[in-house]
Amino acid sequence: MRTDLLTRLAAHAQQREQDGLRRRLQTVTNANGMWVERGRRRLLSFCSNDYLGLAQHPDLVDALKRAADSDGVGSGSAHLICGHRSAHAALEEALAEWTGRERALLFSTGYMANLGTLQALLQRDDVCVQDKLNHACLIDGAQLAGAELKRYPHADVAGAARQLTARPDAAALLATDGVFSMDGDIAPLRELAALCLREAATLMVDDAHGLGVLGPQGEGSVIDAGLSQGDVPVLMATLGKALGCSGAFVAGSAALIDGLVQSARTYIYTTAMPPALAAATLAAVRLARTENWRREKLHALISRFRAGAAQLGLPLMPSPTAIQPLLLGDARAALAAAEALEGEGFLVTAIRPPTVPQGKARLRITLSAAHEEGDVDRLLDALSRAPLGPHV
Ligand SMILES: Cc1ncc(COP(=O)(O)O)c(C=O)c1O
Repeated sequence: MRTDLLTRLAAHAQQREQDGLRRRLQTVTNANGMWVERGRRRLLSFCSNDYLGLAQHPDLVDALKRAADSDGVGSGSAHLICGHRSAHAALEEALAEWTGRERALLFSTGYMANLGTLQALLQRDDVCVQDKLNHACLIDGAQLAGAELKRYPHADVAGAARQLTARPDAAALLATDGVFSMDGDIAPLRELAALCLREAATLMVDDAHGLGVLGPQGEGSVIDAGLSQGDVPVLMATLGKALGCSGAFVAGSAALIDGLVQSARTYIYTTAMPPALAAATLAAVRLARTENWRREKLHALISRFRAGAAQLGLPLMPSPTAIQPLLLGDARAALAAAEALEGEGFLVTAIRPPTVPQGKARLRITLSAAHEEGDVDRLLDALSRAPLGPHV
């Protein structure tokens, strides 16, 4: 008899419940900086990716309103039909200049940017070598493209080299997160670039969590590592994290961008992002580049959190970025810790498998320039009382 798909899906959800892995959607009814309201509770959030505190900045809100007044809301069509407006063009130019690249191309989300880029670059006989902890959309992109996906142990350059040398004649893409989304550490980009040069492979960096946070003017992990477009020909980053908006872009040579315009299906067959959003993002880029105090404050808060957490003996991970996970191991322990923190007025999400490997559940604490020193101190105080269980 044929399997009923909805019954199977429900059984899967039930299993997740039993394993302590059920995902629950919660509605935020109000947001004010890092303060959010959920139901009747007012919580201080330590789980947003708004690292520079730009999401509610008046310049962004004004730019969005002004553009909406003149251009309306929807772009009306895909970029290649008639959806590409001057706000998109201006944002692409600013992103290319900021990241030191010839051109940039907007996508509606980071997920779509990675799917489209990998699908456009890779073919069936190619090999795509990826860090084990890469974001899901890089993994999905290689699978969608039909290329052979070879993963290497986290940040293990020798492991990556073994995967590349095993397929010496295949066209090869090595793709890595610049800053790992659930761990916060930075990929060994210089070593990976040298490896790609040696092996004639193309290097792609997803800098969703590095843009705005790393580099002298927030240019991201690639420029921070002293690497250029020649070393990392394919750079992708999102607009929904440090820039406080939504969407993503790929930046690189004019030839790369033209190739994506011709072939990336998630670029071609979808409605262009609202032009008002592009206008707001342009305002965000200006602030992220010029207001160095935001980065300085963020990095000071990171140091303060790490010093305090180390003093308390909390299970810190080796992360120099805004993502400061506490590794608890067991999924239920992570949930219990998140609930205890919520009871003390803090919103910190428990991240469980399959988002992270089995036995590596954690509290993913993120810091923002919108936090104050006192906020970090109060969080540390709550953590000192939270049931964090036996650390792995
Ligand atoms: C490393 C990384 N790449 C890509 C994405 C996807 O970006 P978006 O949320 O814009 O789809 C995310 C998270 O959302 C991410 O953490």
